[in-house]
Amino acid sequence: MLTINTEFLNQAVKAHEYIQLAPYAKLAHHQLVTGEGVGSDFHGWIRLPETIDLEEVADIKQRAEDIQQQFDAFVCIGIGGSYLGHKAILEALQPAVGKEEKTEILFTAHNLSSRYLDEVMTYLADKNYCINVIAKEGIALETAVTFRILRAELERRFGKEGARERIIVTTDKYRGPLKDIVAEQGYPMYHLPHEVGGRFSVFTPVGLLPLAVAGIDIDALLAGAKQMMTVCESDDIEANPSLKYAITRNIMTQKGKEIELFVNYEPYMVFFSEWLKQLFGESDGKDGKGLFPASALYSTDLHSLGQWVQEGRRNLFETVLSVNDKPVDVPVPSLEEDLDNLGFLAGSSLNHIQASIKQASMVAHSDGGVPNLEIAIAKLDEFHLGGLMYFFMMSVSIGGYMAGVNPFDQNGVDQYKSEMMKILKG
Ligand code: PA5
Repeated sequence: MLTINTEFLNQAVKAHEYIQLAPYAKLAHHQLVTGEGVGSDFHGWIRLPETIDLEEVADIKQRAEDIQQQFDAFVCIGIGGSYLGHKAILEALQPAVGKEEKTEILFTAHNLSSRYLDEVMTYLADKNYCINVIAKEGIALETAVTFRILRAELERRFGKEGARERIIVTTDKYRGPLKDIVAEQGYPMYHLPHEVGGRFSVFTPVGLLPLAVAGIDIDALLAGAKQMMTVCESDDIEANPSLKYAITRNIMTQKGKEIELFVNYEPYMVFFSEWLKQLFGESDGKDGKGLFPASALYSTDLHSLGQWVQEGRRNLFETVLSVNDKPVDVPVPSLEEDLDNLGFLAGSSLNHIQASIKQASMVAHSDGGVPNLEIAIAKLDEFHLGGLMYFFMMSVSIGGYMAGVNPFDQNGVDQYKSEMMKILKG
């Protein structure tokens, strides 16, 4: 389902380093699966692919069908973990141009740009739509304010009763302001298990409802996560890739690397990197520790960041995400005349050229002092994305425990919120 290629790490990481660090990774793994590690009240995601309430999944699929039949658009209101997971999967699986969704999925509250929200609202003005407000217990101000604005607009257009038929809430089972609003207004509500943190919540109704509305096969997504969960039960480094990856990142940190650059070659995976940036940034970056997660899309960024990667400060390494099976290929045509001097590529194809660029970049960057490893999945589909996401959740948790941090809190995120409230309340 997933392979790790360490060929271009060879100069930077020695085999004995894996052997020396294996016991630490195994201990972290043990603390994770037994619930002995710090932050274990947020371990709910670990067995989720197996323990998920199948009746709720069936209910989500039914509601998604109803929404597809009834509404032109489905507006997600959420930020951070209440936005990035399902956005990443949608971007990965939907066509870049010419989408044919029965119900269009729109995203709001991931920014507070007036221009953006005004555009969305103008676009929705003659559409029949519903909204899904999504928040872990905290509810970010971005989400709360956007919900207030869109709820008021729904009530203005459709009346209180009409608005009630167009609002779905996804939030923590026991806590948070949205729960109180639901109790008051009677909106339908899906539960986010209390033991699952925001950035680990894509396999809960947070991600599953929007994805099902978009026609994504959520059963296959969960099946992929479940298969990776089984793989990650092993504490053998050769059998469990999340251990190997966590050790590699730990070695990179010890060798002075400060930045992990997630590299993609498919534009469809740009938002997957955004999801990774939250997962790793919020889980790792605390107590004065952690790699800074950054991302690049190659070839695009080979013509911008590429210079820095090749010859700038030597404080980064690259994690290249690859998809082996490419169902589409575009051939390079042969022409009678060879005015562009590309005759040597006639009969070749874009996939072949892109693979050559990838190989060349990995060699050049590695030779230039930027070690890189490659994580590859067989196909870009629901099953493999589910497995890949679970793999990264497991890796960041093991790595966090190895570094001695609690990967499941995010007190630093809350810091700016209290400052903001002071400013807003005067
Ligand atoms: O990982 C987390 O829990 C957080 O980063 C949240 O995803 C983010 O702050 C959004 O919060 P909420 O979903 O409560 O609005």
